Amino acid sequence: MKNKTIDYLIQPGGKLTGRVRVPGDKSISHRSVMLGSLAEGETRVSGLLEGEDVLSTLGAFRAMGVRAEGPDQGKLVIHGAGLHGLKAPAKPLDMGNSGTAMRLMAGILAGQAFDSELIGDESLSKRPMKRVSEPLGRMGAVIETAEGGRPPLRIRGGHKLRGIEYPMPVASAQVKSSLLLAGLYAGGETAVTEPAPTRDHTERMLRGFGYEVKTGGARISLRGGGKLKACHIDVPADISSATFFLVGASIAAGSDLVLEHVGINPTRIGVLNILKLMGADLELLNTREVGGEPVADIRVRAARLRGIRIPEDQVPLAIDEFPALFIAAACAAGETVLTGAHELRVKESDRIAVMAQGLKQLGIDARETPDGIIIKGGRLQGGAIESHGDHRIAMAFAMAGLVAAGSIKVRDCKNVDTSFPGFVGLAAQAGLTISSIRS
Ligand code: S3P
Repeated sequence: MKNKTIDYLIQPGGKLTGRVRVPGDKSISHRSVMLGSLAEGETRVSGLLEGEDVLSTLGAFRAMGVRAEGPDQGKLVIHGAGLHGLKAPAKPLDMGNSGTAMRLMAGILAGQAFDSELIGDESLSKRPMKRVSEPLGRMGAVIETAEGGRPPLRIRGGHKLRGIEYPMPVASAQVKSSLLLAGLYAGGETAVTEPAPTRDHTERMLRGFGYEVKTGGARISLRGGGKLKACHIDVPADISSATFFLVGASIAAGSDLVLEHVGINPTRIGVLNILKLMGADLELLNTREVGGEPVADIRVRAARLRGIRIPEDQVPLAIDEFPALFIAAACAAGETVLTGAHELRVKESDRIAVMAQGLKQLGIDARETPDGIIIKGGRLQGGAIESHGDHRIAMAFAMAGLVAAGSIKVRDCKNVDTSFPGFVGLAAQAGLTISSIRS
């Protein structure tokens, strides 16, 4: 029997107003479950994202004997097993849709005494894993992949790891984090050098758990053999989820919206920088630091956007925000040019191809290039869009519905639950005319 899926139906018109708090940051939530599980003592997390991706990570640790209460309304208590306290799982660990879970877990599991296997859904099963299996192999890990370096990953336990010096070929926080986590189990120093800055939540959180991590320019290192000490983590709202509202409010006339308690870590604010260059009206209010991460309320008002050439140094800092930014570009005056973003082709879907296809469907001139896209702003028409099961594509086109000439149907939106449970309700509360239909 075919699994039921969800489509979104959006009616044009409306504006986004009021105050909303989007769910917790996905990257920080994954890491809090991982480090809390590997720590000694009781870690209390609040603001945890209860999305399917994070639940996959939590499920994996439970399958390896970690006890945890919750999550309940964003609260989770983890009784850490210590770095050497995990038990062999009885069956393969299912990482669902989550690339972050699979790549970071590979680093952790490479250091265990037992064998394990990581599997994922249809989308994850197509994604490249050699970027972690190869450098982990250099550290002494034994990891078998399917053809072409794809999942499943079969990880042999009991191999002593040694630190390496790794110049990363791609700017990827997942690769950096995977190696640093393996480095906790390795002899000597594990060091990575980034070709461009990427999100630094792993480094920040390791320090929060009392583990020394050195950062010198683009080089990040740690020494194996230490301990993680349990702590309290307050997860800010996810700037990647807030992005859909930042774009929606920017393009819909009369909008005036405040997004509360959003994480504004400097390695994540490419979207704010890019939107400002496009002429967006953004204001950071009540900037503060919560548990080692900077946080602010963001006020956004409708503005006349203009097309820009997106600076390449902003690409890794906005890597998950491009589907929504492409909608902003479609509503801007003039042309927006993105280059240096080949990584978008290996996300939950090929986000360059899928967005270009959807934008064309809505009457926008969008041309793919090997590592980016050229979008000419215009009038969005109504129509039916395929999300290809990609949560961020689905939410980006939902926001396009605010300003389209007719209604928009977005197909296959079930995976929105991986990162943004409650999206439809919150978007409707802010002023989007959206309903979900089971098909
Ligand atoms: C993430 C890193 C990014 C991002 C992903 C989350 C993380 O991936 O796209 O959604 O939590 O480390 P890459 O590191 O592969 O760019």
